[in-house]
Amino acid sequence: MAELLHNPEALLKAKLELEQTVGKCNPNEESDITRLPYLQVVKETLRLHPAAPSLLPRKATKDVEIAGFTVPKGAQVFVNVWAIGRVESTWDNPHTFIPERSNADFKGQNFERRICPGLPLAIRMLHLMLGSLINSFDWKLDNHNMDMEDKFGLTVQKAQPLHAVPVAI
Ligand code: HEM
Repeated sequence: MAELLHNPEALLKAKLELEQTVGKCNPNEESDITRLPYLQVVKETLRLHPAAPSLLPRKATKDVEIAGFTVPKGAQVFVNVWAIGRVESTWDNPHTFIPERSNADFKGQNFERRICPGLPLAIRMLHLMLGSLINSFDWKLDNHNMDMEDKFGLTVQKAQPLHAVPVAI
């Protein structure tokens, strides 16, 4: 919601897609998700603000070379997911919110890696909640100077809470 309110053009696109696909103010359902490609905006949001955990722990099972560094067997390594989402060689304008990116995805290309078993549930819930918030109300900001900084902890949160006010359509 914060990224969409910060990027009104993207909010409008998501809203129009919902209006045209499920109808204004109609509840969107799980079966609608594949018909709402722009609602995939949640992927771009998670690229910039990965919810949890932002530092994934790993332990080397053998000596390995990574990008010229030797990681010795037994070393504890923390993968910085937040930084991966902002690598310049992978993402054009990495700090800019661009929902139209074609390479944003949760799965990655290395299927042997661990993955979140809650992902299918989380994605459905995110699409349904975001879709109904956008489709049921217009939204205005209490404070127009939106601060988009993240606050780091066990989970990543907004440093300044979002103050969004629903307006009946
Ligand atoms: C948008 C929401 C969510 C995000 C961004 C997320 C992200 C992640 C990430 C990055 C990992 C680490 C994967 C790895 O080690 O490479 C993880 C692991 C895990 N997640 Fe989630 N998750 C979400 C929702 C959920 C939900 C809803 C559940 C449970 C219903 C869940 C349960 C778990 C569990 C049990 C693990 C540990 C898996 C393991 O180490 O084998 N997650 N999640």
